[in-house]
Amino acid sequence: MNDGSLILGIETSCDDTAAALVDIDGRVKAAATASQIDVHAAHGGVFPELASRAHLQAVLPVIDRVLSEAGVAGPDVRAIGVTRGPGLIGSLLVGVNTAAALGLGWGVPVVGVNHLRGHLRSAELEGARIAWPALILLASGGHTLLARMNGPRDIAILGDTRDDSAGEAYDKVGRMLGLPFPGGPHVDRLAAAGAPTLALPRPLIHEGYEFSFSGLKSAVSRALAQTPPPAPADVAASFVAAALDVLMTKCRRALLAERSASLVIVGGVAASAQLRAAANALCSELGVALHLPPQRWATDNAAMIALAAWDYLDLAAPPRALAQARLAVTAW
Ligand code: KG4
Ligand code: ZN
Repeated sequence: MNDGSLILGIETSCDDTAAALVDIDGRVKAAATASQIDVHAAHGGVFPELASRAHLQAVLPVIDRVLSEAGVAGPDVRAIGVTRGPGLIGSLLVGVNTAAALGLGWGVPVVGVNHLRGHLRSAELEGARIAWPALILLASGGHTLLARMNGPRDIAILGDTRDDSAGEAYDKVGRMLGLPFPGGPHVDRLAAAGAPTLALPRPLIHEGYEFSFSGLKSAVSRALAQTPPPAPADVAASFVAAALDVLMTKCRRALLAERSASLVIVGGVAASAQLRAAANALCSELGVALHLPPQRWATDNAAMIALAAWDYLDLAAPPRALAQARLAVTAW
């Protein structure tokens, strides 16, 4: 098949080597990921040099897999979208250089995509359509921010985190509780079995749109040092209650001030069942539409990078002319 209807997305910013073929409406025709969880588990976090080496081994096979799954030849893709940052520099270099080389060989344009923009676009994968303007919460391992989006390319940041991201706090609490890496999903599941019995702080909850999670993380560490220590499930439940209270309070404040028609929540923490339930309750109370990426596209993936790359193509130009653009680096 070749009608230039698919963009090949490549994502290697952290510890997953991912490729996907996505059409302009966000339909994912093929996707593949080589996970590095086993590589990093022994270190309790991502080991950058090992990540780069693993990407180098996996990147071409992963791309090959999606092309053959969709029955598409490389030169027939409309463009290549590749994560250009932020992320681990060695890991990013593998993806960007692979994309640049393939683009040159196939004669197709390459668009360098901001990883955060990929997340921000992920809620429109698999056909969902957002009513703009929307308020958007990105809660991932690397970032936590609130933004107003008037459209796919019109993004105004309202607030960022002053220290840790929400996902980082989940992961650190997971490590304190002796849970496997990455801790987020394990903390989320364990919390469902406990009760929020600990009084934990909710940093910056009463002001503005900025976040801070390091004080909450330290409070969990102090609670665990008590004798006898509290039950792990209760610690997880208390932490999740505090983190979600902060996230939802900021969303509520922004929704009331910005009068957005929709709330969009993206990033790895948006995979959390508890966050999804809390967001549903908030949006039905305020009469606002809630958009979440399909669970599979909440954590890092290449489909969101491919969808974001579509926003930067001049669709009026014939596909081959676009190859002149070579490596177009996108801003927000
Ligand atoms: O978006 P993402 O895959 O990578 C970054 O761009 O950072 O987010 C990864 C983060 C990790 O901190 C991970 O623990 C967290 O998302 N996460 C979760 C869940 N699944 C992943 N946190 C809470 N509940 C989950 N179910
Ligand atoms: Zn990410």
